Amino acid sequence: MITKNVEKALNEQIKREENSSRLYLAMASWAERAGYPGAADWLYAQTEEERLHLLKLVHYLNDRGGNAVIPALEAPKASFKSLLDVFQNVLKHEEFISASINDLYAVCVKEKDFTTANYLQWYITEQVEEESTVRSILDQIKLAGTEQGGLFLMDKEFGARAMVKRVALAAAGGMTQAK
Ligand SMILES: [Fe+2]
Ligand SMILES: [Fe+2]
Repeated sequence: MITKNVEKALNEQIKREENSSRLYLAMASWAERAGYPGAADWLYAQTEEERLHLLKLVHYLNDRGGNAVIPALEAPKASFKSLLDVFQNVLKHEEFISASINDLYAVCVKEKDFTTANYLQWYITEQVEEESTVRSILDQIKLAGTEQGGLFLMDKEFGARAMVKRVALAAAGGMTQAK
């Protein structure tokens, strides 16, 4: 049994995870066109990861007797000045998501839904990791940007990061079975 307020807050988070997935898809497409195949690969993998976050919440809400609502599509930001600009936007977005998960947690505590609060621990830990990864990518882009060819080498490294992400996604049970 889930209260209406928790259901509403979870549906809001489902929408935000969907928007995250679509934002990263737009960024991946930008990077692919701008000549950063490695960064594009990482961003496409990130799109899938956000979809996994969305699916986990859909399953959880339905399993608890709530009604997961699939939101209407919103056009994500799609034009960027540079690779640095893309990742500055990624960090800003992840910070927004961390804050929104904290708000969701607060709703659960207020409603005394400690089961959902406990479930959200996974998301809280995930956000710490997401922010830290993006900060380290931003540091590397800033360093690479000061040397000729640096961005090219940086882009190659993204391929390895994307591979690690895809292995983790597969270990999480793939896209449709995520719980
Ligand atoms: Fe997410
Ligand atoms: Fe994320």
